[in-house]
Amino acid sequence: MDHRANTIAGWVLGAGIVALGVTIVTGEMFRQERPEKMGYPIAGVEEPGEGGGAAAEQPAAFYLASADPQAGEQVFKKCTACHVAAKGGANGTGPDLWGVVGSGIAKRPDGFAYSPALAGKGGNWDWNNLFAWLKSPRDFAPGTKMTFAGLSKPEDRANVIAYLNKQSDAPLPLPAKPAAAPNPAQAAAEAKSAPAGAEQAKTQPVLNEAQATPGKNVKGEAAPSDQQAGRAKK
Ligand code: HEC
Repeated sequence: MDHRANTIAGWVLGAGIVALGVTIVTGEMFRQERPEKMGYPIAGVEEPGEGGGAAAEQPAAFYLASADPQAGEQVFKKCTACHVAAKGGANGTGPDLWGVVGSGIAKRPDGFAYSPALAGKGGNWDWNNLFAWLKSPRDFAPGTKMTFAGLSKPEDRANVIAYLNKQSDAPLPLPAKPAAAPNPAQAAAEAKSAPAGAEQAKTQPVLNEAQATPGKNVKGEAAPSDQQAGRAKK
């Protein structure tokens, strides 16, 4: 082999090494973690087992218990195009909302030309129906004059209700947090496993002791001879 052949072989080998190095480095750079869930998510399709979007929403009291009236004042800015919430405030496109929490539905003292949809509801505004009303006025009272899409976030609804509650001569105490855990499915699972776990804790020490005593014997001097005896018999 002459020198040139060696040189060429050297270059080929060198190029191979460089190519390998580049492959490794770019492989690291562009390495993708395997996604936990395979496949493409389809928008609008609810994943089973995750509580399923809107269905997972907690009752009003859950959010109201920790509602923040000050945050609600910010949310109320979405309402001020049509409403004020001031004592003796004027009706606009919507009625003045002073003292609305706990009062009659469509019964503002200053009067207002309600839609038959809302006027025919009857009853008083409470946490739950306000929560439903502000989620979707149209669903709560089909045909309502309140042409407002609604507040999709339960926290926003709770906060604005807490704010409205303060715009009153007699604010009501906010409801206490319900006992339910944040995730109903999880709560159910915990409720199931908790008594079992408690029972285990009660019975386990007794079992352990009972097991430990013969266990010592088995692992102690008697065990090998027993085994040997067993083996010898066979
Ligand atoms: C586009 C105007 C508009 C907006 C925005 C609007 N409302 Fe209304 N609201 C109305 C009208 C109109 C009514 C009366 C509905 C009817 O008669 O059907 C009403 C009624 C109400 C009532 C019932 C009052 C009663 O006397 O029973 C409440 C409570 C209320 N609105 C709260 C809100 C809150 C809170 C917001 C903001 C998150 C909001 N509204 C946004 C127009 C509006």
